[in-house]
Amino acid sequence: TVNVQHRIEDARAKALLGGGQARIDAQHNRGKLTARERIELLLDPGTFKEYDMFVEHTCTDFGMQKEKYHGDSVITGHGLIAGRTVFVFSQDFTVFGGSLSSVHAKKIVKIMNQAMLVGAPVIGLNDSGGARIQEGVESLAGYADIFQANVLASGVVPQISLIMGPCAGGAVYSPALTDFTFMVKDSSYLFITGPDVVKAVTNESVTQEELGGAKTHTQTSGVAHGAFENDVEALQNIRELFTYLPLANTDPSPIRAADDAWDRDVPALDTVVPLESTAAYNMKDVVHALVDEGDFFEIMPDYAKNIVVGFGRLNGRTVGLVGNNPKFAAGCLDINSSVKGARFVRFCDAFNIPLVTLVDVPGFLPGTAQEYGGIIRHGAKLLYAFAEATVPKITIITRKAFGGAYDVMASKHLRGDVNYAWPTAEVAVMGAKGAVSILYRKDAANQAKHEETYTELFSNPFPAATRGFIDDIIEPSSTRRRIIQDLNLLESKTLTNPKKKHGNIPL
Ligand code: COA
Repeated sequence: TVNVQHRIEDARAKALLGGGQARIDAQHNRGKLTARERIELLLDPGTFKEYDMFVEHTCTDFGMQKEKYHGDSVITGHGLIAGRTVFVFSQDFTVFGGSLSSVHAKKIVKIMNQAMLVGAPVIGLNDSGGARIQEGVESLAGYADIFQANVLASGVVPQISLIMGPCAGGAVYSPALTDFTFMVKDSSYLFITGPDVVKAVTNESVTQEELGGAKTHTQTSGVAHGAFENDVEALQNIRELFTYLPLANTDPSPIRAADDAWDRDVPALDTVVPLESTAAYNMKDVVHALVDEGDFFEIMPDYAKNIVVGFGRLNGRTVGLVGNNPKFAAGCLDINSSVKGARFVRFCDAFNIPLVTLVDVPGFLPGTAQEYGGIIRHGAKLLYAFAEATVPKITIITRKAFGGAYDVMASKHLRGDVNYAWPTAEVAVMGAKGAVSILYRKDAANQAKHEETYTELFSNPFPAATRGFIDDIIEPSSTRRRIIQDLNLLESKTLTNPKKKHGNIPL
């Protein structure tokens, strides 16, 4: 038994070294932490329980039986973040470039299955050269097993991916299936095929960074939900995000005590909307003023900035905030903002997070680019997402709510629970100028007079209030208090959609 004990200790010590000191140094020289160092920073100190440290790859081709590492190329297990359970895998680039062997895949699927059994999120730290070339189709089978587990876990437990190195080819689809994908600037990239293949097939010359770096995916493609300066900052931010999320779809929206009076007035909101109806303001200012201690975890801050989405707390309870942002493209809805909003709304609904929607929308963006790009199909996603959501839905129209976009933005008609307007609200089919140019086309001389009449009639909250389409017109400074009271009221809300296999959201 002394012998066995010695063997166990020896194997553990070897496992801790991954692919060896030289490769660990190489990882550090690239400005990257090792897979184990990352887990240490992600989890509460000393809470990591590792599984499968003694697993070895099973490949016998290419002399691989002579090169084995305890645990192979991924570290898996569970631990705590701020005292709450999370499952984690961290790909080890020092072992065969973090490439995915069949046992690597089995280790990941094992913790994913257990996460679903107990109801806890999964965080994946990705840093991998892709399929283990020596294992061929075994490796491809491993990817598919992970994809299948990702899909089954979707909507059951939150899944978060952090890309901290290469992630190419089939490997990209596991992060793509998870709820949130974050990247580390300059050291991570995601693409289906690398620059060499792109050159050969399309004759485009593009660098790795241009093709699939953090800037590309957070600003242009919308594949990633955020990017951070380095490994440490990225891991700290994931810890922060985690505190807003429920552990599973069976959990209520989490509550964390806040040192911020629930019933405080927010005087800044009385003046945030400019007197001039076409002047811009930043909806993020409204969000920050409303939420506990001004803390807002924004999702996709650099993509489709005409809509703002993210998590905040109101009297300690997590809420999902969605707001049109007049500071960018007048806050209109377009393809990208619709898709961004829809996916966020669906996450919140799947995980029982109440929705607070701030509306200032002049309508959908006109033009051939939008129509040819399928704005009808994509705009329908946001409409669908709000309409199917059964979580508490509280909506505040701060200024414009025009046309079809009024309907879409969590209106009363889409089962909005409590819908408010500020005194500055204008709920109408369109703005005065546009309306008059159509109604009084033949009376150009009196445009100004007609606009005045239209404004008097429609550019205020009354047309909606007199019909009960909004429940009340409230002072902006009372908004925080009102929402929190409504969240308390709606805590016992139960609403279920008709039984079905699943809906058919326009994709
Ligand atoms: N399968 C098996 N081993 C792999 C691998 C893979 N897919 N990718 C990398 N490795 C190994 C390398 O052989 C090397 O081994 P060594 O430490 O014994 O020398 C180690 O991982 C590090 O790779 P290296 O190429 O030296 O690192 P790099 O930072 O220069 O490049 C990559 C990283 C990912 C760009 C490069 O390794 C690569 O292109 N890999 C193949 C990617 C691919 O096409 N995968 C299949 C698509 S799904």
